[in-house]
Amino acid sequence: MANPNPEIKCTKIFINNEFVNAVSGKTFPTINPSTGKKICDVAEADKADVDLAVKAAKAAFDRKSAWRQMDASARGKLLIKLTELMERDLHYLASLESLDNGKPYASAVFDVHGSMNALRYYAGWADKISGETVPSDGPHLTYTRKEPVGVVGQIVPWNYPMLMLAWKWGPALAAGCTIVMKPAEQTPLTALYLCSLAKEAGFPAGVINMLPGYGPTAGNAISIHPDVRKVAFTGSVEVGKIIMAAAASTLKKVSLELGGKSPLVICEDVDVDEAAQIAYAGVFENMGQCCIAATRTFVQEGIYDAFVKKATELAKSRKVGNPFGQGVQHGPQIDETQFGKILGYIEKGKKEGASLEAGGIRVGAEGYFIEPTVFANVTDEMTIAKEEIFGPVQSIIKFKTLDEAIERANATTFGLAAGIVTKNLNNALTFSNAVEAGSVWVNTYLAVTNQAPFGGYKQSGIGREMGKEGIELYLETKTVCIKLPSKV
Ligand code: NAI
Ligand code: MG
Repeated sequence: MANPNPEIKCTKIFINNEFVNAVSGKTFPTINPSTGKKICDVAEADKADVDLAVKAAKAAFDRKSAWRQMDASARGKLLIKLTELMERDLHYLASLESLDNGKPYASAVFDVHGSMNALRYYAGWADKISGETVPSDGPHLTYTRKEPVGVVGQIVPWNYPMLMLAWKWGPALAAGCTIVMKPAEQTPLTALYLCSLAKEAGFPAGVINMLPGYGPTAGNAISIHPDVRKVAFTGSVEVGKIIMAAAASTLKKVSLELGGKSPLVICEDVDVDEAAQIAYAGVFENMGQCCIAATRTFVQEGIYDAFVKKATELAKSRKVGNPFGQGVQHGPQIDETQFGKILGYIEKGKKEGASLEAGGIRVGAEGYFIEPTVFANVTDEMTIAKEEIFGPVQSIIKFKTLDEAIERANATTFGLAAGIVTKNLNNALTFSNAVEAGSVWVNTYLAVTNQAPFGGYKQSGIGREMGKEGIELYLETKTVCIKLPSKV
């Protein structure tokens, strides 16, 4: 069951199936966002540690290694074994996550399930990755092989630490790659514990390596390392650009899952209460720290006032508090920086003329809690309608016609997700086709599923994770051509 004081078992760098100190001996603190106090110190990886991890991952990828000689089906079994260990330790993992990240315990449990399901999904792929025979010109047998790209660098954020890890470990391991990962500096604890489970499951040494530390040091060392063949990143647009530029020096493959300013369009033909509920869940999920958060709520003029009233009620009813508290739906923001940034956006919203209907202030005197906040009368030019806030702030914007809503929804450099709530099939299809976004939801929101590709248009990213496309990120295609005595 939930344990607000879980024992901290893993705090060191994980290389070659061993937990080790940083070469520099340095450590950094990880903070409990509910109190602002230190949980523990964690070994701080830097370039020297990345070099050791890449060396281990490269050796594990050697063509004669246990990992490369393993049957593809056996890789799938290892992934399944890992999920069984996660299931065994579900409450420990969830407790550790609530402590380190601040998300309500029930959400952390949900994340462990989501992570296990993502890993199970890719476990199934391990022995179903195949090339094809090709009808080539000339008397040749021509076929393609799908081969793992090699050592991959993976850099993940703090909002869904376990889920983002699973989204990256799953396809990379199913494909047969070896991994050098950096968790976010705010949330290293579950990633490190999952490494101990991977070892227990039987993954050979060097297949998975974990480097807790900071972006400009450890993260950069991964992005520029000549023996890392691909880098996969989830996080801010700003850092995505830095990583892509760093990866250019060695022409690494790059996949990026970045931010958003996703529009949710509510048409006036719908039940206001239901629509407000969809919008509320879409924006306040995970304290608004969600790349697909529906932060631009476009509402048609005929139901605008009624919608604002309902949205305000819902935000005010949300239970904010300690993540281990009974019935708590909403914990603290991840850290002081994000907390300050979000309160700054709220001030800008007020200053630029939006009307504050709910929230807008800190909750309590310690930790990084912010009341679920609703702004009405938001216009497209306001900062809160343009920039990613990554906090619990809903901006309700009025529109007249669907055509106009589509134009305005697309008037952004982002393109991660979008949604529409309507009873009109033509409106739903017109919007789904016209909106520039990697995921579109109709009469629902946040409906991410392991089997479908996920990623962004425009500056929201490059490549698609999850589903069959998610595997492709970790594969090379080789064409083999063999001369035959004759065509037939
Ligand atoms: P960030 O993009 O700085 O951090 C994400 C990861 O990148 C972390 O592991 C970090 O250590 C690493 N990183 C940072 N600088 C790096 C560098 N130069 N080279 C390699 N790796 C580097 O995000 P941050 O600062 O935590 O949050 C800032 C904003 O980013 C948020 O307000 C939000 O708008 C957005 N964000 C989006 C996420 C998403 O799911 N798409 C997740 C987290 C943040
Ligand atoms: Mg940062």
